[in-house]
Amino acid sequence: MKVSLSFNDAISLIYAPPSSYLIWCLMAIFLFKRIYRYQSHDYAFSTVENLLHSLGGDDFLRMLNRTLLETLQKAGFSEKFLDEIVAPVMRVNYGQSTNINGFVGAVSLACADSGLWAVKGGNKLICSGLLQASKSNLISGSVMYIEEKTRTKQTGTPTKMYEVAYQTGSETHSDFYDIVLVATPLNRKMSNITFLNFDPPIEEFHQYYQYIVTTLIKGNLNSTIFNSRALGKFDLSTILTTDNSDLFINSIGIVSSVRENNPQPSEDGTYVWKIFSQETLTKKQILKLFLSYDYAVKQQWLAYPHYKPPEKCPSIILHDRLYYLNGIECAASAMEMSAIAAHNAALLAYHRWNGHTDMIDQEDLYEKLKTEL
Ligand SMILES: *[C@@H]1O[C@H](CO)[C@@H](O)[C@H](O)[C@H]1NC(C)=O
Ligand SMILES: *[C@@H]1O[C@H](CO)[C@@H](O)[C@H](O)[C@H]1NC(C)=O
Ligand SMILES: *[C@@H]1O[C@H](CO)[C@@H](O)[C@H](O)[C@H]1NC(C)=O
Repeated sequence: MKVSLSFNDAISLIYAPPSSYLIWCLMAIFLFKRIYRYQSHDYAFSTVENLLHSLGGDDFLRMLNRTLLETLQKAGFSEKFLDEIVAPVMRVNYGQSTNINGFVGAVSLACADSGLWAVKGGNKLICSGLLQASKSNLISGSVMYIEEKTRTKQTGTPTKMYEVAYQTGSETHSDFYDIVLVATPLNRKMSNITFLNFDPPIEEFHQYYQYIVTTLIKGNLNSTIFNSRALGKFDLSTILTTDNSDLFINSIGIVSSVRENNPQPSEDGTYVWKIFSQETLTKKQILKLFLSYDYAVKQQWLAYPHYKPPEKCPSIILHDRLYYLNGIECAASAMEMSAIAAHNAALLAYHRWNGHTDMIDQEDLYEKLKTEL
């Protein structure tokens, strides 16, 4: 899942983005927002490519095939702008260079400019809140394998169902389901699910995820290391880095409270800083960044796909009634994308179960919905 950071005023002031760049991003976002209209009319898509095509046509699919660098170079942006604005934004948002695909690049650039929302208490509350609202029955455990089996229902008719085997503590359990949705990256390191005895076998994905380390530090930054000249009263709140920087971090920025627009220091005058880096920071490195610090907490994880266009997105339909949500991350990884993928999978499963083929993969939906109103 992507973690975003908004630009601070100082950076926006120094680098007022050229208006052509804003128009380029706004156009992509404008087209992308069509998905909410389609989903509010219950339309579903059976592949990530079909979904993107319905929003932005071949242009969107071409964005998946090209690097962001190629896409923006073709659109006439200067090398300086690409190196000093676009590359640092990709490093903070996706821990990668401008060699990521053009689509995820557009999503990432759009985030850099608009006000982002945060949830008081942590974004994780979205998950527990949704779970509660849906009145679902949550069973905690790690899924080990999924196997299709024929079961005889009470009516006496044999029916194909999926057996899901999972581990809770040291115990193994299993249950039968009509429809299964997999909402975790299918990657042996992250969720080691085996698909047993499927014929033909379920497609194996080798989606590589990007390793990233987040370190939160409360302390006094030594701003001299970022600029040999005296900064005077010009305080730093966000520092992004370019691809060829010799620094050991991708970015560092002050963490602000959900309630305040401007971050407030704690009583001792220090701030909490969030650092993204490719490797775990050593104590020596932390002492290079900070004059003094109180505490540091770190979290390393496989945060988002490692992008390598041309992207071939994993299937949404893995088997008759077995669906996969995280394939959408190959286009762009963000909470909003996960929500769209989940809504799409729910609609797709429902329409396929009920034989509503006219609600799936419809061409020219935009025109169709325009005349319907
Ligand atoms: C994208 O590349 C794939 C091959 O990787 C190709 O099959 C597809 O036609 C390309 N799509 C576009 C819109 O260029
Ligand atoms: C995944 O699970 C299989 C069997 O369930 C096991 O043999 C394998 O070592 C596991 N792989 C990882 C990376 O945990
Ligand atoms: C701050 O960093 C600069 C540049 O690395 C270094 O010369 C200076 O000694 C540091 N200041 C302190 C007080 O450690």
